[in-house]
Amino acid sequence: MSRRALLEKLALGAGAAAAGAAVWPLAAGVVEPLAAELDAEAPWVDVAGEKEVRADAPLKAALRVPVRDGFFTTLLELGAVWLRRGPGGNIAALSGTCPHLGCGIDFDAKGAFACPCHDSKFGPDGAYQKGPSPRSMDPLPVRLADGRVLVQALRFATGSKARRKI
Ligand code: FES
Repeated sequence: MSRRALLEKLALGAGAAAAGAAVWPLAAGVVEPLAAELDAEAPWVDVAGEKEVRADAPLKAALRVPVRDGFFTTLLELGAVWLRRGPGGNIAALSGTCPHLGCGIDFDAKGAFACPCHDSKFGPDGAYQKGPSPRSMDPLPVRLADGRVLVQALRFATGSKARRKI
């Protein structure tokens, strides 16, 4: 997909997501087909240094995907990823996109993840706690290379209990 086509799809997707916050049952069917085209390649993205990820609090990193346009490569921001270090020291990644309708998930002062759009709550491990989200936060594959954390920019359908890659 060309850079121009990708940017056009993103603009349409952002508009659909904003409208979806108001009329979510209607929007779920509009947002998903657009997102499906964006995530066909699911590249591995360098999101942080390994040492930046601590055990006491998750680290929010931007998910910037390189998009090639002729001779140029630009970084396109596709949301965020939350990185956390588990008890054994392993690094895990959770998509920062809410499984309900795709808003950005925050980490609150009480030590849990929360979505500001419709108040879904998730535990520190991303497990569903309450609210309209149909499932827990979506885990993303992680790879470590040369002291860097790479995350695969997978995307999942919103609004469904089943975790479906798109
Ligand atoms: S988008 Fe509705 S709770 Fe997150």
